[in-house]
Amino acid sequence: MCGIVGYVGHRPASDLLLEGLSRLEYRGYDSAGIAVVDDSEIEVRKRLGRVAGLIEMLELQPVAGSIGIGHTRWATHGEASDINSHPHRDETGRVVIVHNGVIENYDRLKSELAMSGRGFRSTTDTEVVAQLIGWKLDQLIESGRAADDPETCWDALQAALGELKGTYGLGVLFRDCPGHLWTTRCGSPLVVGVGDQEFFLASDTSPLIGYTRDVVYLDDHDTARLGSDGIEVRHRDAGIRDIPVQTIQDEAVDIELVDCPHYMLKEIYEQPESVRSALRGRLNLDDATAVFGGLNADLAEVRRIDRIVLTACGTSWHAGLVGEYLLEEFARIPTEVEYASELRYRNAPLTDNTMVFAITQSGETADTLAALRECRRKGHKTLAICNTVGSTIAREADGGIYLHAGPEIGVASTKAFTSQVTVLALLALYLGRMRHMSFRAGQSFVEALQGMPELISETLECHDRVRRVAMRYADCENFLYLGRQYNFPVALEGALKLKEISYIHAEGYPAAEMKHGPIALVDRQTPSVFVTPRGGVYEKVISNLEEIKARGGPVIAIAGRDDDRIGQLADEVISVPDVPEFLQPLVTSIPLQLLAYEIALLRGCNVDRPRNLAKSVTVE
Ligand code: M6R
Repeated sequence: MCGIVGYVGHRPASDLLLEGLSRLEYRGYDSAGIAVVDDSEIEVRKRLGRVAGLIEMLELQPVAGSIGIGHTRWATHGEASDINSHPHRDETGRVVIVHNGVIENYDRLKSELAMSGRGFRSTTDTEVVAQLIGWKLDQLIESGRAADDPETCWDALQAALGELKGTYGLGVLFRDCPGHLWTTRCGSPLVVGVGDQEFFLASDTSPLIGYTRDVVYLDDHDTARLGSDGIEVRHRDAGIRDIPVQTIQDEAVDIELVDCPHYMLKEIYEQPESVRSALRGRLNLDDATAVFGGLNADLAEVRRIDRIVLTACGTSWHAGLVGEYLLEEFARIPTEVEYASELRYRNAPLTDNTMVFAITQSGETADTLAALRECRRKGHKTLAICNTVGSTIAREADGGIYLHAGPEIGVASTKAFTSQVTVLALLALYLGRMRHMSFRAGQSFVEALQGMPELISETLECHDRVRRVAMRYADCENFLYLGRQYNFPVALEGALKLKEISYIHAEGYPAAEMKHGPIALVDRQTPSVFVTPRGGVYEKVISNLEEIKARGGPVIAIAGRDDDRIGQLADEVISVPDVPEFLQPLVTSIPLQLLAYEIALLRGCNVDRPRNLAKSVTVE
């Protein structure tokens, strides 16, 4: 939520900041703004709406300078408006900041600052931070400290941070110390790119691509000063820190749309390759098992696991549900899937040998991070199944498994889901082979996984058929999504995709559970999407489908190839290749992603930037 960029170097800052903001716009697109140090002033340009609008503004009112900060906003405190856009200044104009996060005690701080005579322009929590830093700075100057001494700025900033409660990633400029940019974080991500006599600041690595691959990841309570003399990092408790420069992997580079109209479509079509990447180097054919490099758990520890907790939010939680079926069926380990937002506050009793996996595409989701920290605090081994290399969750977990799906930019998660399911299947194979699974069963599992990228490519051939179905149902205002066993989480995921990008009300249910309430919704205008490929529960799902037909509800079926029976029952059939039941989510989820995409297009919705949403939810 909210994207931050910064630059200190020798190039025109505004061009770099705008380019960086365009790449971070998936984090929020309510408003955008930049501040650039121009001689002894800090020039601010900001406005409601997308980065494109800010670019137009800067064409008319350019700013010169080679140090600056920028922000793209997902509004939390204060409506989306010009005045609430970042950057925000303190009253004197000495301090200008951008902020990602939420200041929980902003109300109290605001009252105190107002009583000391500070006037507020906006209704944001961020302006309170700018005013607080400014107030601390004024006090230091009044006590005789020099405004142009960087140590004064350090002290003003640290004094203000000591009073903040909540989460923040900040970029801070001090007018009287114009050669430097300060940045600090607590609970919100920040990365510093290290170039040749230049530094880049960003909420994630995407704005750095093309400029540098060398990065420094800041930890909570680190504050960094970036200037022509280099980078200096101080930790709140540990003083000056020497932080290693790391190199970003190649996979972080492919973020251009090229010929694709939307990131979501691009990412749907990348799934054969992203699933192939998740499998690469992880199948051991000789032992018919899976191998992982980064679990950081010895064999004895893995063998002792008696319970698994998978914690996540949104789509990643749906992948976790598939994981529950996989782990219980193949590894025979009791598994629970917990909403991270609930687990973090529930004092769930966990056994000593419980292993906790946080599943997350971004590695920055605030609730997932908090749940992981809570479980670590209680002494449990915590591992991450994560896509974003170097993200906070990836760094804080004891170990983990990367998805290697490449950047996912579309707000609606697609390829991350199938990669998460692939990694969870690998995990079930690995843990299963350590326990009860026979060599022969392991071999069949491995062979099935190896075939998946090809079968996903084949599945994508359903796109034309999906487009025709979408045209028939795009005007409906309610949808039901129904599936059983491995396809129940797929039904939930299909409904979420439709909701978030087309704003149609959709509900996912276990198909049999539908009789216990949701069937009351069924009428001729409410399609039911049945995820019903061949498998152990096929006959049962057919009975559920008949129940809907008997009540006049239209049925769209996601079915196996040449399934004549479904052909006669359903109004529409979208067929997918036949695959072993436990891997069906890897194919059945794809027509549902495409259906949501096509319906959203027909309804004129912004597929990659759906209203009210942001790609990574770094607030509670
Ligand atoms: O980055 P994460 O996987 O932790 O994100 C979790 C959810 O916010 C995310 O999956 C969200 O539900 C997606 N927009 C769904 O498409």
